[in-house]
Amino acid sequence: MQATLEAIIAQNRALTAQGRVATYIPELAMSDADAIGICLIDGEGKTYLAGDTDIRFTLQSVSKVFALMLALEDQGFDGVFDRIGMEPTGDAFNSIVKLETFSSLRPLNPMINAGAIATTALIKGNSVAERFERLYSYIKAIAGNERIRFNERVYKSEKATGDRNRAIGYFLRDVGAIDGDVEEVLDLYFRQCSIETDVVGLATLARRLALGPDAEPQLSPEVLRIARTFMYTCGMYNATGEFAVKVGIPAKSGVSGAIMATAPRQQMGIGVIAPALDEKGNSIAGVQVLADLSRRLHLSIF
Ligand code: DON
Repeated sequence: MQATLEAIIAQNRALTAQGRVATYIPELAMSDADAIGICLIDGEGKTYLAGDTDIRFTLQSVSKVFALMLALEDQGFDGVFDRIGMEPTGDAFNSIVKLETFSSLRPLNPMINAGAIATTALIKGNSVAERFERLYSYIKAIAGNERIRFNERVYKSEKATGDRNRAIGYFLRDVGAIDGDVEEVLDLYFRQCSIETDVVGLATLARRLALGPDAEPQLSPEVLRIARTFMYTCGMYNATGEFAVKVGIPAKSGVSGAIMATAPRQQMGIGVIAPALDEKGNSIAGVQVLADLSRRLHLSIF
């Protein structure tokens, strides 16, 4: 396994030069464009590392999976899906177009920004601080380790520049898709995106999603099933179909260049970081690493 991972990382390292790091959040523009690293935790819980594994990065959109899980715990199935749809999209991750044209005026799904902001709005608590603490603790409990932290600089950077998300938030309230104080919801959303980890933390989260509902800490089987389903159908933005064909496992990417991939059949968790992105916002080398790994280890769920 170790040799396989090292070979796949070496094979794909040059690909990073074909991508670009995200710059719309100024702090992310400082990421190392050449970096590439992977952690894989296998069915027995054995951890393998290859490449640049000492870098820390923010979860960004990977956090949307856990916000969805907590919102489902808080509100139940109908409480979430009365307000947010379940359909994949062909639009860019920060698209606002479908919001105005989609007849139900509900965001399409919880993995695009509009749906994720509406999902985050459903997390319970008496203040932003309390709501964030609940989500942060939930993610830390799932990771079961000390690798989850918070990146204040990325949070401030996104909060200062996140006007598109602000526009989405106010639009959502105007059409009744969210209630309450929009700035508070956005603050919570920017905070969740700024939760920080490393590839081991990411692989640990992924592995927990790969295990059945009986593993510790216990997660509701229904919540786990829904989370994996959205990762599989909507987790890689408007490249999700291609990813499903080429890799075939539930995964979620973030603009930091992180991909959290979960192989349920093998009970395997994989965390990849390679900050240079393709034009759709997915890690250019990370996607190829997972495609090579999936072919090699027969990970595809079909
Ligand atoms: O909403 C944003 O702009 C980010 N904080 C998260 C988006 C993200 O990770 C999209 N990824 N491809």
